[in-house]
Amino acid sequence: MTSALSRDKRPDLGDGTIADLVAFVADPQSEETVRRLADDQNFAQATIRRGNCRDAIAYLKRSGYPHTIIIDLSGSDMALSDMDEAISLCGPNTLVIAIGDQNDVGLYRDLSVFGVADYILKPVSFEMLRAVIAIQAGRPLRLNQRPREGKVICVTGTRGGVGTTTFTASLAWQLSAVAGRSVVLIDLDLQCGALALMLGLKKSSGLADALRNPHRIDDLFLARAMVKRSDKLMILSAEEPLEDDPAFDLAGLDAVLRLLQQRFHYVLIDLPRRPGVLYRQVLERAAIQMVIATPTLAAVRDTLRISRLVGREDLGQRAMMVVNHVCPADRGEISRHEFEKTIDRRIDYEIGFSRVATASENGGELLVQRDPAFAVVLDQMVNDLLGRSSCPEPKAQRFLRWWR
Ligand SMILES: Nc1ncnc2c1ncn2[C@@H]1O[C@H](COP(=O)(O)OP(=O)(O)OP(=O)(O)O)[C@@H](O)[C@H]1O
Ligand SMILES: [Mg+2]
Repeated sequence: MTSALSRDKRPDLGDGTIADLVAFVADPQSEETVRRLADDQNFAQATIRRGNCRDAIAYLKRSGYPHTIIIDLSGSDMALSDMDEAISLCGPNTLVIAIGDQNDVGLYRDLSVFGVADYILKPVSFEMLRAVIAIQAGRPLRLNQRPREGKVICVTGTRGGVGTTTFTASLAWQLSAVAGRSVVLIDLDLQCGALALMLGLKKSSGLADALRNPHRIDDLFLARAMVKRSDKLMILSAEEPLEDDPAFDLAGLDAVLRLLQQRFHYVLIDLPRRPGVLYRQVLERAAIQMVIATPTLAAVRDTLRISRLVGREDLGQRAMMVVNHVCPADRGEISRHEFEKTIDRRIDYEIGFSRVATASENGGELLVQRDPAFAVVLDQMVNDLLGRSSCPEPKAQRFLRWWR
């Protein structure tokens, strides 16, 4: 962005550090993200270059330390010793952020011991970088949430068919029809999504158009793309041809989310389980990440893996684990206790098998409207989301268990 600056020309913040940003990053996507951060954060100066930790060291030796430095460790064989040297050239207050492509908890831990503020796994998202900087500046920022912005909730299943869409549709209904919040649903299964069908609505090509044309997205564009279920419940979905590969760009989703968060209290994303970079990036955008699993061995394994991607409390995220019984209770199923022991965390909510699930689905009614026991769980969950206290096992639920 700018050429290297001589230290004495940079504005001093009074504590020996300088209000500038230096970044050495290895790829165009990270470079673009850091440039966006530099614009957003109003650094007095920004020096953003392609390079690695060795280049950062050479820069620090030549030009002195900046206020904030972002160093790309990808591809480095000696990441720790390089970083150690870079940090020794920084000031006591320099904010050092490492990025890289190694998903390694050990590396993360060692870097924090050296004084690195955070290690962000690539691809680096703007929201993540912004949140890390805000936390270090002592003004924790809730991910994706500026004041008065709607909350993004992402719901994903550990496997296909675990009831993610049934649950998401009912949660949206409970939040809008019962709790009176305005809600928009996004079905990211652009080819086979069933959310609109479950709500008794027709699909439109709206979401796919929006994701493909981020530069065209404005209120009017979105208003045309959304289908209305009620004044407080809208949906964005798509029905792309099966022979296509409807991959989308995150820029499109970000533009959609930015606008929707200004218009709705809640943005609920039904995220199909297609592990990969995009899957993780969509999850990262949510303040609340709900993981739906069935009590089976495969689901336990995948819950464990997904739980590593969600719930960074320091970034204002919250993970919620939900076990859904899509089959009648069976002696062979994994018990709640075993499930919790294996994933080393508690299950937040458990939904019982519902005898009326198929009838409600085929009858165009949401499960929450047909099944009182399910409605009780959702009511607790909504109270939880709204920050109201809720009793984990109210009398009503005990009775309803018996009723099933
Ligand atoms: N608690 C439940 N009890 C009984 N059946 C359920 C329950 N929850 C969901 N189902 C049923 O399970 C089936 C799969 O549900 P759903 O389509 O919501 O799953 P999904 O995880 O979204 O699937 P996909 O991976 O195809 O997107 C549906 O027939 C639904 O009615
Ligand atoms: Mg689904």
